[in-house]
Amino acid sequence: MRKITNINKNWQFTYRKDNTTTTLDLPHTWNGIDGQDGGNDYYRGTCTYEHTFEKPEMKEGDLLYVEFKGVNASAKVYLNGNKVCSHDGGYSTFRGNLTPYLQESNVLKVEVDNSANDTVYPQRADFTFYGGIYRDVNLIVVGQNHFELDYYGCNPIKIEPTVKNGAGELKVTAWNVGEGEVEISVYDAEGTLVTTFKNGEHVTLENVHLWNGLEDPYLYRVVATLKVDGEAVDEISARFGFRSFHVDPQKGFFLNGKSYPLRGVCRHQDRPGIGNALTHKEHEEDMAIIKEIGANTIRLAHYQHDDYFYDLCDEAGMVIWAEIPYISKHMPTGNPNTESQMKELILQQFNHPSIFVWGVSNEITMMKTDKKDLIENHKKLNDLCHQLDPSRLTTLACFAACGPGNKSAHITDIVSWNLYLGWYVPGLFLNDWWIKLFHALYPNRAIGYSEYGAEGMPNLHSAKPKRFDNTEEYQAIYHEYMLEFFARNPYLWATHVWNMFDFAADGRDQGGDPGMNHKGLVNFSRTLKKDAFYVYKAYWSKEPVLHLSGKRYVNRTGKKTNITVYSNMGTPVEVYNNGKLVATLEGNKVFKTKIVLEKENNVVVKAGGLEDQATFYHVDKPDPAYIVTSGNSMSWEK
Ligand code: GCU
Repeated sequence: MRKITNINKNWQFTYRKDNTTTTLDLPHTWNGIDGQDGGNDYYRGTCTYEHTFEKPEMKEGDLLYVEFKGVNASAKVYLNGNKVCSHDGGYSTFRGNLTPYLQESNVLKVEVDNSANDTVYPQRADFTFYGGIYRDVNLIVVGQNHFELDYYGCNPIKIEPTVKNGAGELKVTAWNVGEGEVEISVYDAEGTLVTTFKNGEHVTLENVHLWNGLEDPYLYRVVATLKVDGEAVDEISARFGFRSFHVDPQKGFFLNGKSYPLRGVCRHQDRPGIGNALTHKEHEEDMAIIKEIGANTIRLAHYQHDDYFYDLCDEAGMVIWAEIPYISKHMPTGNPNTESQMKELILQQFNHPSIFVWGVSNEITMMKTDKKDLIENHKKLNDLCHQLDPSRLTTLACFAACGPGNKSAHITDIVSWNLYLGWYVPGLFLNDWWIKLFHALYPNRAIGYSEYGAEGMPNLHSAKPKRFDNTEEYQAIYHEYMLEFFARNPYLWATHVWNMFDFAADGRDQGGDPGMNHKGLVNFSRTLKKDAFYVYKAYWSKEPVLHLSGKRYVNRTGKKTNITVYSNMGTPVEVYNNGKLVATLEGNKVFKTKIVLEKENNVVVKAGGLEDQATFYHVDKPDPAYIVTSGNSMSWEK
């Protein structure tokens, strides 16, 4: 049977910027600091990683592979000075066969390049392209008869479940090399054997337990065993779920025959200081926060995320939009790379029941270059997705300035737009106009919001919040509007907040904190949930929510001050100041009033048996710490 050994430990990293070599453990990025401090000047070049290892125990005829789960952005792999393989694309798994060059003692060397070029995506985008070997590296020993390791870095098993009248149809195909018979076994979530059958066969299972979103994300497991003369020589497995879905342009998304409005968030994967070099802990923490807000869908922007996060999505019951980083600027010389990244994404993540749509591009019309070639490439990618996976839908995230009739918006099965009406463009009301126009022009084209958002910095506050002031108050007002806007337009197939978390974009200089995008509902280190987080939690979560906003807006001016409360505890919401009842509020989720400011204000809000509180002080002049006048630019767009 195969033997997988993780080799994250003890690598010699040579930083080409200053030719220093350090010993470190993976996962790693060399842009953890300079990629998050602004200036759009983080080091992009070729650095090298070396790892020495003794030849593992192998039988005659055994093979040794190396597997990289994520190296950004291009890699050349050598063993004992011999070229093993190369790979372009910073977000997918790839492997190399080390066997031909194996010695007793070995030096594995990887040249990693994240320098600018016109062939590998992404090249222009509002996030940092951290260089490094930032996901796991494994050695895999297999016998001469084994499951495929050379096919687009995927787990070579394709599980095709469909549901018909409560019965589950299942086809499983596993690819093996050499001799042997492949036996397929299916286990239920409790680990009980359900059935076994031959590779490539179709079976029908009666009364299957559906994978049913957040309510009941039920997972089965397939185990494929390769047997030679009756003896098991290799084994692989994957989980899957039985579910059906469709999108109705007039009524939105349906899961297992029931209306299931997709309301959720977008996620970038980076963290302070470590960039994309995450461990399971960070992925689990992100999923816990997304579950807490009550989202039922995640757009995993703008690239293939860690396999482990798609596993967490399966287990949580999230509906996922997965995508490749074909973004901002169409490069004809990059077409082959869009194809290989799309193939890797689909083949590597095919079995995840949480994935429902494949996103082919993001704001690709922004630079207005090579329009004809762009359209042709989108048609090719759309066809590729359908050829590799007829079971899912294709979509794309259109640029705000991309008109409703733009050809690029009418190729994929469904479409979504990145609309920042009320942030980059003044006028929250324009959301209603825009979507009504599109729906009137194209009533049979399913549309969603793939992005919308506003900067919100927990240290910036205002009594008169306004667009582009980066205050926590304006961000909350913006999202209050959008939630009611979506309620007025239930046919939207999905809406995804940009973004669940603040993230690094070294080309930004926003709100006095360069290198960062603060549209997150949660801060970069995941230690602080902004007020806007709680308006979503009040609308989406089944947990009790009573949130008094503005706790960080301590020093307040004026005779009266705004009090905003988010609650799903019914009415009334009572507001007390210094022990005195000053307001009794009616409403739905969002409750607002003004109270007279005393010198010191101990405010308590009560609803449904819950309480929340904060203390505010009256000041004569706005606190200068709350207002930032510097920086509101994005140099990456130039
Ligand atoms: C765009 C883009 C994002 C970017 C966002 C923003 O729509 O797709 O990658 O971060 O806008 O400007 O915050």
